[in-house]
Parts: sequence; C-alpha cells; structure tokens
Amino acid sequence: MTPHISAKKEDIAKTVLMPGDPLRAKKIAETYLENVKLVNEVRNMFMYTGTYKGVEVTIAGSGMGCPSIGIYSYELYNFYDVENIIRIGSAGSYKEEIKVYDVYNVKEAYGDSNYAKLAANIDDKVIKAGTELYSLIENVAKDKNIKTLTGRAHSADVFYRHDDITEFVKENELDVVEMESVALFANAIKAKKQAACLLTISDNLVTKEITTAEERQNNFMQMVEIALEVAVK
Ligand code: ADE
Repeated sequence: MTPHISAKKEDIAKTVLMPGDPLRAKKIAETYLENVKLVNEVRNMFMYTGTYKGVEVTIAGSGMGCPSIGIYSYELYNFYDVENIIRIGSAGSYKEEIKVYDVYNVKEAYGDSNYAKLAANIDDKVIKAGTELYSLIENVAKDKNIKTLTGRAHSADVFYRHDDITEFVKENELDVVEMESVALFANAIKAKKQAACLLTISDNLVTKEITTAEERQNNFMQMVEIALEVAVK
C-alpha cells in the first residue's frame, strides 16, 4: 500500500499499461484480460490486473499531466517493483502529415516543466524512452502490420495556452503534443526501469481535424493491442 494506491504488492504485474482515463483502463481490462481483478480504487484511479495470453498484466489509470502520472509511476516502480510501464494515450499533432488516428511511438519527450530536474536530477529538457521497450513496440507493430510514426513529443504543462507556439514547435523539432511522457520517462531513468509511450493522434492542430469520442474509442484499440503484445513478450 502507498499513499495513492491501495493494491497489495502481489496484485500488481511487472508490466503496467497506463491510459490517462481510469474508465479507459476499465474498458481495456474488461475487453482484453481474463481473470480480471480491480486492485485499486483510491480517488477512482482504477487499476485492474488480469492475464493476457496467460501472462499477468496491470492496466492502470494515470490521470492527466506530469504531476499525476509522476505520482503513480513513481509508486509503481519503487514500491510495487514494476519493471515496465507503457503509457497509452492520445496526442495532438503539430504536423499536417501526422493525421488523426495515426499511432505514434514516442522516442523522446521535450518537457515544459521542471519535473525531470526535480524528480530525477536530470538537467536535459529532452528525455528518452526506454530503448528496449521502445524497440519492442516498433517490432511488434511491424509484426502486426500497424504503421507507427516516431520522434519527439512535446510533453506540455498547459492545454489552453495563451500564445502562438509555431516557432517554438519548429525550433524544438516537436511532432505531437501530450502531457505526461516526460515525467514517466524521468521516473523510469531514476528507478533504472523501462518506460514507453504510445499515442493515438486525436486532433491535428494545423488542419483542425478532430475525432469523436466514439471514433477515438475504436481506433485507440490498435495501440492497446500493440501494448498488450509487448507486455507478454
Ligand atoms: N492530448 C490530445 N490532444 C492534445 C492537445 N491538443 N494538447 C495536449 N494534449 C493533448
């Protein structure tokens, strides 16, 4: 038990998939896992453990933003002996050619915040995903014939910004924007564990294309299937 997770240590698997939304964790667990057990409901941040192809996997909500995923991933790595965390989330695209529903495997994340410095004493603004987990995702996606795009994500602190960030995006070579990966990657490096971040593009900030909640639900599943396959490798 930790301040934010009431699960018993033995109820959390070595590999955890983390969608931002706890209800999405529920949906994924109910759709794909066998022998599913709800192992955490503190703050309604639902976490489920079950088996996929006979291997134990945990699906856990992370909440939104670096502070939230920072707390949960820290506790999972350091108090529950979790080895691998794969964030499965959504992102906005900064590029016309990265379209809604594309699947994006984050190679590295540019952080707005001081999270990496404060949590892991890392000075760099750009933090890399775990290379093993990142490569496994690429290989599994290829085997499943699912195209992934890859590169640098902007791990932003502010969803509703006041300014135009076109120049900032160009200067820092940012492809997509989400709000959690840099904290997850920094915690993994500090704990000497693996982290990856798979994203489905939900909106394009250039073309203004957006997806409906229902469409998102269906397309999100391609990414989930890659992550589950990686979890059982
Ligand atoms: N996740 C999905 N779309 C996003 C956006 N436009 N900004 C930040 N995070 C996002």
